[in-house]
Amino acid sequence: MATIRPEIGPNRTGIASDATSKKLSEEMVEATQEFPPNPDGDERYIAEVRAEIAREVDGVGSVPPPPTLKGIAKAAAQKLRAESPALFIDKLGERLVFERSGVRVYEALLSKLDAYGEFDGGPERADLVHILSEEYEHYRALEEALEDLGADPTALTPSANLTATMASGIVAVILDARTTLAQSLEALLLLELADNDCWESLVELARGAGQDRLVETFERALQAERDHLLNVREWIAAAQGRAN
Ligand SMILES: [Fe+2]
Ligand SMILES: [Fe+2]
Repeated sequence: MATIRPEIGPNRTGIASDATSKKLSEEMVEATQEFPPNPDGDERYIAEVRAEIAREVDGVGSVPPPPTLKGIAKAAAQKLRAESPALFIDKLGERLVFERSGVRVYEALLSKLDAYGEFDGGPERADLVHILSEEYEHYRALEEALEDLGADPTALTPSANLTATMASGIVAVILDARTTLAQSLEALLLLELADNDCWESLVELARGAGQDRLVETFERALQAERDHLLNVREWIAAAQGRAN
């Protein structure tokens, strides 16, 4: 069972070397001259159609009515400045979905560790369990923040919807039974990079919304995310035999 290094094997996906099907691929390319594509036009038509459809469709969902409009009397909600509560709630919803995915990803990584075993310089079970618990804490903190603001933490906001789609590739790689622990860690790197950037933004948004208590909580989360990223980078370097 492969653990870290990819194996050399019968890969026939390429067309440019003699080991694959160079002659047949040359004939295939020649055939494109003999049988040009039927439709008139080029990629500009595709661009036109894209723009035309974009003008017709609505955006990706909406944010439920902000709590201030509902007259919620809670102190936190009152402090939420009127200029753009929708953006703040949209982004809180996004982080919530992402952190929940993070928990599931670390659960899947534990299975990967069981299946493929540890490698030198790679994560130990306790490391993964530790980060998993932090991702879960972040998720709970966001749920609480949304509740305190009078918002619905179960609502899928537009950014939450998009981020779930973005993360789906990462999750798919890690859930694929064939991927090794090392390969899964590369997918995890994308997740932790996004985590770092997005928590930074959320700290600023919380500050702008006058949510001082949340700024503190989110700064602690950001610090934890920085550690996650450092860990993942070290593990990947070790898997590739690089000094980090
Ligand atoms: Fe996270
Ligand atoms: Fe993280």
